[in-house]
Formats: sequence, structure tokens, C-alpha cells
Amino acid sequence: MDVIVVKDYESLSTQACRMVSGQVQSKANSVLGLATGGTPEGMYQALIEEYAAGNLSFQETRTFNLDEYIGLPTDHSLSYHSYMYKQLFNHIDIPPENIHLPDGNASDLQAECKKYEAFIHEAGGIDLQILGLGHNGHIGFNEPETSFASRTHIIELDNETREANARFFEQKEDVPKRAITMGIETILSARKVLVLVSSADKAEAVKDMVCREITSAFPATVLQKHPAVTVLVDEKAALRL
Ligand code: GLP
Repeated sequence: MDVIVVKDYESLSTQACRMVSGQVQSKANSVLGLATGGTPEGMYQALIEEYAAGNLSFQETRTFNLDEYIGLPTDHSLSYHSYMYKQLFNHIDIPPENIHLPDGNASDLQAECKKYEAFIHEAGGIDLQILGLGHNGHIGFNEPETSFASRTHIIELDNETREANARFFEQKEDVPKRAITMGIETILSARKVLVLVSSADKAEAVKDMVCREITSAFPATVLQKHPAVTVLVDEKAALRL
């Protein structure tokens, strides 16, 4: 793992933007794996600015998001579909057909998981996967004890995860109980992985991801096995390293 510590959230966002831009500039039809959550918002904003400045085009880029809630209407303001259009897709030149997110409202959710995995495969696999980190070590929505061999699947969200994400909803009861997520094996199949972590409340989780023995009790430890992982953290998130 290549751990890079930067001063603050702004530097983290700029540096992450540089890495994603570099990927897209070196291979126009790159396949990007994208994440939601609070952490990548600054990176998306920086990418929009690069695009607006004429330094970047996403005309040929394909994207696959990590996860989506089950049962939340696609156009609900808190669905990950809505998040991605608001944070990035509405502001860049990516063709709609190049955008992929799991459908959490599919009538056959198992078939949807298989289909999503097949789409990633047909696209040639993910070149660069962006990840955030959950306090309990989840990556995507792969909660503790998820099999390392998992591909895109349905997951019951941990109480802790629902509590963490309740800040976006009116009340905790509104946070969906299940989600579709790329599996751990799906994530490990990406050619490169970029993990973004900011703020002091994640410092313990960053230490576990980097230093703890590989264990399904803390899924992010599995990234130690991947040959090309960059962990980009700000000083606060690096406090326990
Ligand atoms: C959610 C997402 C994850 C994300 C995590 C951390 O649970 N499903 O993909 O990495 O939250 O989010 P944040 O960046 O808001 O801390």
C-alpha cells in the first residue's frame, strides 16, 4: 500500500482529482469505479473544474458505481443515482449510456447483481477504483464478515453504517436496510485502487486498514493484498499511523 498523507481535505481533493485526471488523460476510454459519501465530494468538484477549464473530457469514459440502496426510488434525492448526477454527471460531458449504477429497485435483485458484474466484465474491468472507508472497515457496502470472494451482491447494512448515513436522512428509520454493492473480489479485480479518507473520526479505521492483520472482521484490510493501492489521507485521518 502506498500511503500518502496530505495537509487537509482541500489538498486531498486536489490530489485525488489529479490522479483521476491522469487516468482519464492517459486512457480516454478508462473504466472508473466511483464512490459516494461525503469524502469524494471535493474530488468531484475539482474534476468538474478541470472539465470546465477544458483540461479533461469524459466523452469516452465509462463509470461503475460501487453501490446503491435497495428500495429507495432512483430519483429520490438521497439515492446514489441522484448523488452522482448532482455531484458529477450533470456537470461533465459523459454520455448517459456510459454511466452505470446498480438498480436497487430491480424486480429481480439477484439477476441485477449478475447483470452488473457482467457489465463490468464486458467493459474490460475497472482501471481505477475510488473507495471511501466506513468506520467499521466497510468498503463499498461490504460490511464486516463479507466473504473476500464476493462479487456484486445484496447486503444487510450494519446498524453502525445506518447510523453514520442517517445524517443525510431526516431520521435513522428512513435509511434503507439493504443495498446492492460490488463485492470484495469485484473491488480487488480493479487494476488500481485509490482510497480517500479524511477527518479525525476515521483515524482509527485508517490505522486498522493499513496495519491490522488481514481479516474479514475489518474488510478494508483486504486491500493490503492488492498490488496497486494508494491510500490518500489528510493529516487528521493519519493521526494514528
Ligand atoms: C457509505 C458508502 C461508502 C463510503 C462510506 C464512507 O457507506 N456506501 O462507499 O465509502 O459511506 O462515507 P463518507 O465518505 O461519507 O465517510
